[in-house]
Amino acid sequence: MRKIIIDTDCGSDDAVAIVMALNDQNHEILMFTGVSGNVRVDQAVFNTLTTMKVTGAYYPPVYRGCDEMLKRDWAGAHEEHGNDGMGDLDLVDYSLKASEGDAVEKILEALRQHGDKEIDIITLGPLTNIAKAILTDPETMKRVNRIVMMGSSGLGEGNVTPTAEFNIWQDAEACKIVLESGIDPLIFVGWDACLAEAMLNPEEIRMIKESGPLGKFSMDINQPLMRLNRERFGDDYLDMADPAAMAAALYPECIEICDKYYCEVDVSDRETYGTLYVDSENRSGKEANAYICSKLKAQLFKEYLYRQLKVK
Ligand code: BDR
Ligand code: CA
Repeated sequence: MRKIIIDTDCGSDDAVAIVMALNDQNHEILMFTGVSGNVRVDQAVFNTLTTMKVTGAYYPPVYRGCDEMLKRDWAGAHEEHGNDGMGDLDLVDYSLKASEGDAVEKILEALRQHGDKEIDIITLGPLTNIAKAILTDPETMKRVNRIVMMGSSGLGEGNVTPTAEFNIWQDAEACKIVLESGIDPLIFVGWDACLAEAMLNPEEIRMIKESGPLGKFSMDINQPLMRLNRERFGDDYLDMADPAAMAAALYPECIEICDKYYCEVDVSDRETYGTLYVDSENRSGKEANAYICSKLKAQLFKEYLYRQLKVK
């Protein structure tokens, strides 16, 4: 069993990715670490606990991480995920509690206690916790086997600005620290990887929703995103960014395109802030420093998603 740490700003698509990971018997989740992003960190922690409860598989510790981004103000993504990040369904369950301890310290502790390259980190939100861990103890962070991140526009367009994707844009300074950390490999699963055929279409959404409690939960919490997409795409489509990243991390057979490039992140004060520039033609001549996963095999991705959500 591969050991993983999942860092999340738990909104409605993070929750689906978390269900997938909890039901994956080839991986053991050592802990969840919360960060502000879609919602504030306390809500992200609460949403993670709620998702674990609904899944009912097993209960790794959930630690609270950074509330503030390194430099910019927190913005959130209420339009996409609802005010509580989970579709405003009043999912109130206080039976599980966050664990004592700081997420950044706990990540470092786990890396120290395990063998070199024994742990993968998967991030579903802004990179603030990871950057803080690198700033605190860069050598320990190099013990990580790999970091797989939902982040960047991949080789396509952005979703918060024409060129920037939310997780990178929310804390680009943190992304810069990760990129310059010397950790290898860094794998960004781009926003483009969850679009086109990888999106869930109305028929697939209906099928998942009717398949059982996990399918219903996963689709119900994503109602705000569906509403938004009705305006954008004319029907109930779902772009499942974090599930796409989770699938790329836990089930790499579903990856179609993932290449290594030289990448740089824009931390300027301009409107391009938060853009991950991918030197796909190697015009800079600089050494490649990160993988960009820009396309999934949609069918395999969806089959994996269905298995993890226990869709019959
Ligand atoms: C990313 O931003 C958030 O809205 C989602 O949870 C996902 O992690 C997509 O850009
Ligand atoms: Ca997320």
